[in-house]
Amino acid sequence: MTKAPNIVLGVTGSIAAYKALDLVSRLRKKGCRVTVIMTANACQLVGPASFEALSGNPVALELFPDSKPQNIEHISLAQLADVLAIVPASANFIGKAAAGIADDLLSTVALAVKAPVLLAPAMNVNMWENPIVRQNVKRLTDNGWRVVEPETGRLACGAEGSGRLAPVEKIENEILSLLGWKDDYRDIPLIITAGRTEEPWDPVRFISNRSSGRMGLALAEQAARRGARVTLITGTVDEPAPAVLKHIQVSTAAQMSQAVLKELPHNRALIMAAAVADYAPKNISSGKIKKKNDRDITLTLKKNPDIIHLASVRRKPGTVLVGFALETDNLIANARGKLITKNLDLIVANPAKTLSSDNIQAVIIDKKGKTAKFPQMPKSKLADLILDRAIKLIGADR
Ligand SMILES: Cc1cc2nc3c(=O)[nH]c(=O)nc-3n(C[C@H](O)[C@H](O)[C@H](O)COP(=O)(O)O)c2cc1C
Repeated sequence: MTKAPNIVLGVTGSIAAYKALDLVSRLRKKGCRVTVIMTANACQLVGPASFEALSGNPVALELFPDSKPQNIEHISLAQLADVLAIVPASANFIGKAAAGIADDLLSTVALAVKAPVLLAPAMNVNMWENPIVRQNVKRLTDNGWRVVEPETGRLACGAEGSGRLAPVEKIENEILSLLGWKDDYRDIPLIITAGRTEEPWDPVRFISNRSSGRMGLALAEQAARRGARVTLITGTVDEPAPAVLKHIQVSTAAQMSQAVLKELPHNRALIMAAAVADYAPKNISSGKIKKKNDRDITLTLKKNPDIIHLASVRRKPGTVLVGFALETDNLIANARGKLITKNLDLIVANPAKTLSSDNIQAVIIDKKGKTAKFPQMPKSKLADLILDRAIKLIGADR
């Protein structure tokens, strides 16, 4: 899995402070770590306990806390931040930052930070239109700070005009773009399968394979980051699953087939990264099969459903199908054959040697036969390259 980025979120004494709670939830759902710094005046408007609960981190409040932290907090917070976002930013904070004043924890962190800084001002219209505030904002933007301009509308004080905090979703997107994340899958529903199936032959034994599930989990994580509404269907996986819209856990190929076919009509694409067993024991004993001294036993296997083929036959027009081919020999030829016989849109071929590793070496082949060979790379990076290609196919049909 990729390292979660750290967002340090400064909350100041604006009536819109409560809206920052929604921002914390959204960023966490996207896989960010969030550390909140509140000014003393912000605490008059919203309790730190709410931010603490939603961020899962203690809220930083004091420049000189009673209990001595191990590090000097304003420096460690400034170093921690991949992005510092001040939401909402009061006129007072903007003025202090523009003048280089550092008289509390947040303004001191803002002066010490090297990461990109984003500011979402919110205030009364007369304050926002005051030339002093405008000059202060300009000074900060000239210094490279990104400002998400407030909107025009009815303000909390009853006045009409500009000064209302920009929509939280817009602020979230600006933060993600500062992190270099794409947003090209926004609201696109897609299914990703991951992990290995386990096919039992008695209550304690099963046959399975060596897949770790990392490729499928990386795809789910990156797709969710890019805004997709991901339904993740997992067999057994060796890593925790990322936060996605819906997570369905199954055990056998038959269960995975059922889940995929049920979800398929509601989705725009299916990426089958799971290692589904091709065969399952024909008979499952209800009791544990006893060891028979010196005698071999025979396990008869029956063919499992070919999930991606069934999906290919049953899909609505425009549903994009991406398959995987894990091969020990004739990688490209075998993958091409699978792409054609199953009528897939893309196939990712990879040699068996990277099965349970963090890295993968792969070839992506499309319907027109175009083949892109990639060197060994982290699975999260290949996930992005697969998604880059899949979105073009989904987009063509939007
Ligand atoms: C109920 C209430 C709401 C306020 N809302 C805002 C606001 O939306 N924007 C703003 O700039 N100041 C607002 N203020 C004034 C700030 O709280 C005040 O300027 C304070 O010094 C800001 O401190 P801080 O920047 O350290 O958080 C409000 C004050 C009160 C009492």
